[in-house]
Amino acid sequence: MSVVILISGRGSNMQALLEAGVPVSAVLSNRAGARGLEIAARYGVSTAVVEHPAYASREAFDAALGDAVERFAPRLVVLAGFMRVLTAGFVARFDGRLLNIHPSLLPAFPGLHTHERALEAGVKVHGCTVHFVTADLDHGPIVIQAAVPVLPGDDADVLGARVLAQEHVVYPRAVRWFLDGRLDIADGRVRVKGNDAQLVLGSHA
Ligand code: GAR
Repeated sequence: MSVVILISGRGSNMQALLEAGVPVSAVLSNRAGARGLEIAARYGVSTAVVEHPAYASREAFDAALGDAVERFAPRLVVLAGFMRVLTAGFVARFDGRLLNIHPSLLPAFPGLHTHERALEAGVKVHGCTVHFVTADLDHGPIVIQAAVPVLPGDDADVLGARVLAQEHVVYPRAVRWFLDGRLDIADGRVRVKGNDAQLVLGSHA
């Protein structure tokens, strides 16, 4: 019934999930120095590192990572700032039970440097998206989004912090919905049984 979280760095989304009481059996990182590993250990959660440079190919790394994940027999695998593109093989292995959070209102700004690109584009609304992972990078069925205003004078750090605060709100909610069996996917769209709002409007803070 548990969750395995994959991280690469800071781990603030992972921490938000732990603080929300999500049953996490392990946190795995592709970087030994990821700060989130220390946080996970403080919460008494098992940690493991599968370092990508140790593998000759993406496929070999993803196979080892998948094996490490499966040791914990999770019901759900959660990407929380996991900064490696996963192969189609890995995605298929965890099909329908792999969630990601992305720091933009998808399908706008897939990929990296989303806050800089939102500012350059002059959008007035930005945000974050929790979605099921498919082989098509940053394009899977959307579970929930949070929108925040882009304000005059914002730089990428200020805007990113505003978005991150909302990431910490929506990710625990999406994971809880999944674990409670409330998410249905049909025609690439996600419906939440019980009709909870799949949009959060963040504040100007
Ligand atoms: C978060 O903003 C997350 O949305 C983003 O990395 C950050 C990780 O922060 N993820 C991606 O960009 C994935 N493409 P955290 O380690 O503090 O949770």
